[in-house]
Amino acid sequence: MSGTLSVPGDKSISHRYAILAALGEGASEIASYSPAADCRSTLDCLERLGIEWREEAGRVTVMGRGLRGWKPSWRKLDAGNSGTTIRLLAGALAGQRFNSTISGDQSLRRRPMRRVIEPLSWMGAHIEARQGNFPPLEIHGRQLKAIDYAMPVPSAQVKSALLLAGLLAEGETSISEPVPTRDHTELALAEFGVEVRRSGQTIRLQPPARLAPQKLSVPGDLSSAVFFVAAALILPGSNITLRGVGLNPTRAAVLDVLSAMGANLRTANLTVNAGELSGDIMVQHGALQGAVIRGSQPATLIDELPMLAALAPFTEHGIEIGDAQELRVKESDRIAALAQNLRAMGATVEEFPDGLRVAGRGAGQLRGAEIEPHGDHRIAMAFAVAALGAQGETRVRDAGCVSVSFPGFFEVLDQVAQR
Ligand code: S3P
Repeated sequence: MSGTLSVPGDKSISHRYAILAALGEGASEIASYSPAADCRSTLDCLERLGIEWREEAGRVTVMGRGLRGWKPSWRKLDAGNSGTTIRLLAGALAGQRFNSTISGDQSLRRRPMRRVIEPLSWMGAHIEARQGNFPPLEIHGRQLKAIDYAMPVPSAQVKSALLLAGLLAEGETSISEPVPTRDHTELALAEFGVEVRRSGQTIRLQPPARLAPQKLSVPGDLSSAVFFVAAALILPGSNITLRGVGLNPTRAAVLDVLSAMGANLRTANLTVNAGELSGDIMVQHGALQGAVIRGSQPATLIDELPMLAALAPFTEHGIEIGDAQELRVKESDRIAALAQNLRAMGATVEEFPDGLRVAGRGAGQLRGAEIEPHGDHRIAMAFAVAALGAQGETRVRDAGCVSVSFPGFFEVLDQVAQR
């Protein structure tokens, strides 16, 4: 692999900018908005709520209608495959003066929502769900009251849902997280003029009178960049540069883990935009040691764990992941999907309820296999990358699912792959 490439705009940040823009008063512009299907789901939901938006050359303009200016949708809102869309919008809709129903695809309808329903109910919202936990969600908007909430599970989606509900609540909302998770919502809220303060693990938000429209630019998605970083680490002789990637410290733990494993990684040209750090990542092939990832670490690199697990057979000592039971309730049961596909490629894997241990290179070279991603974009991309270092051909079934976060993934891979 050699050359310079860029990856699509950050998915997490794009969702937040779109929702806050829609709650703002007037036109906000978002440059490099993610082309991911997930981020399109957010825009489609907002459109059904009366928000006009347009896209020109990767720049999305959202016509905000104010904190309470959204209109009821007579159709069900469709969050597609996107957990961020349904959970964040649940927060923003709980405090509206109308009712909404939101659901998504088969995978999303199996994902737990009690984690947002419960605290939002304590704020005064009334939300019905299948078995009290699964989409579709019927959200009966109400005047909300602020709460002090200690999150039992580290989740940026839950934190963000509550912060968005806090915008519409009476009083100061305070949320404590067990482990600091990605802080894109806090940074974006501050950019829109909202008073958000963090002290230790607690975030406090004062409801604003209004949100002022903004001109924003989304950095490249580190969670997408990681697949190319891993590909360069796997293939001898590789040397690539990824331009303009988001390096927010609450997202960049994967780079620390890779560096500790001995990866030849550098960042350069750092800039800060709307509180978000970004820069270039340079990576060269080199030998990798192993890693043990557990405790508070999994929460800080939760989306990068599939790639790290699939990288393990190329390391000296393998990789062990624990305390990562959240992986079981992502777009797929990622622990099971990783174990299944790694074994199909001949890797030695032990599966635990909260993680897995994957043996290093001593267990032998991977061989090409038929990969079943279970509709999960990150599983498909992780194994497409592992396949580059395997002997023989790999077929990734239903590989189109990569467009959930990275349309054009295979084309970009093709551009930097040297033959
Ligand atoms: C996200 C938070 C994480 C992550 C997801 C995106 C976000 O989910 O896995 O891909 O944008 O807030 P959890 O909040 O469930 O950990």
